[in-house]
Amino acid sequence: MNEDKDILILAIETSCDETAASVVKNGFEPLSNIVASQIDWHCKYGGVVPEIASRKHLEFINPVIEEALKKAGTSFQDLDAVAATYGPGLVGGLLVGLSAAKALAYVLDKPFIGVNHIAGHIYANFISNREIEPPVVCLTISGGHTDLLYFEELGGYEILGRTRDDAAGEAFDKTARVLGLGYPGGPAIEKKSKQGNPRAIDFPRPFINEDGYDFSFSGLKTAVINYLHNKKQKGEKVNTADVAASFQQAVIDILVARILKAVADYPTRSVILSGGVAANKTLRQQLAERLKEEGLPLYTPELSLCTDNAAMIGSVAYFKYLKGDFSPLSLNARANLRLE
Ligand code: KG4
Ligand code: ZN
Repeated sequence: MNEDKDILILAIETSCDETAASVVKNGFEPLSNIVASQIDWHCKYGGVVPEIASRKHLEFINPVIEEALKKAGTSFQDLDAVAATYGPGLVGGLLVGLSAAKALAYVLDKPFIGVNHIAGHIYANFISNREIEPPVVCLTISGGHTDLLYFEELGGYEILGRTRDDAAGEAFDKTARVLGLGYPGGPAIEKKSKQGNPRAIDFPRPFINEDGYDFSFSGLKTAVINYLHNKKQKGEKVNTADVAASFQQAVIDILVARILKAVADYPTRSVILSGGVAANKTLRQQLAERLKEEGLPLYTPELSLCTDNAAMIGSVAYFKYLKGDFSPLSLNARANLRLE
């Protein structure tokens, strides 16, 4: 490979309700980052309707790819590879993006690279924060997963721990539901917590003192349900803000403790947070303060790269490209793909 040549990758992301395409230069520089949101078609149903998502992806995919190339000032022939998310996500949507990427790669005779969506959310940090220095401890927390990772170099990671039951965001969503705070639960709980006392109720912090780096959130959610049940049986009034704040503090304590254990055990220069729960300001603030005491910076992606986009997929694909880690055209969509 010619070391001085720029590597241009067309990346496609269709795992949920955004049809997205991006041309990424050398892994970190999106020359375009086009996202067609379908929110207008889904919001009236209170969530993403998979069949509608698949149809909208089909409608949007070609114009979005054309726009990404045009904005980047690139032609198909300039590309070095074509990448697409192959999981996790809604299978109908994934198939649209994958088929488009495979067809292009085949016709152009360029490598095709399948990318894990969760890895994309992590690599979004490297686009937003070019100054991140490895080794890195990374916590990725969303509605579907909670993974603690260690990057000795930016190109590859080791999984230190993950949740054994509910994901952190799922715990927020389920607790918000029992508190009647609506969906998505994370922002609702964070808002309600502002009026409450985080030390009012001593909810359990499962696994916090255990060896290893795994997480467990289902016991915490059950403790909230039991607390509410008890109060009801005694005919006592519930202070929802105190419950929300105490629950949120328990989650934060668990997450912060795990990260601090990782940075104590592994040589670390930077810490990164990604996924929807990383939007929680109280978590960011408390974690940043604790890390400051350790002399470590905390990084999170800018908002446009926090939500689903294709630039983050192009970033992962670049590192795979450098390793020659190409995918066969037989690669299938995997709805429940995990980080491996
Ligand atoms: O990464 P994401 O947008 O989608 C996936 O699940 O892949 O994460 C969504 C999750 C939801 O569970 C939502 O409740 C949670 O992130 N979330 C938050 C906050 N904003 C979103 N959790 C806590 N605090 C927030 N401010
Ligand atoms: Zn996502």
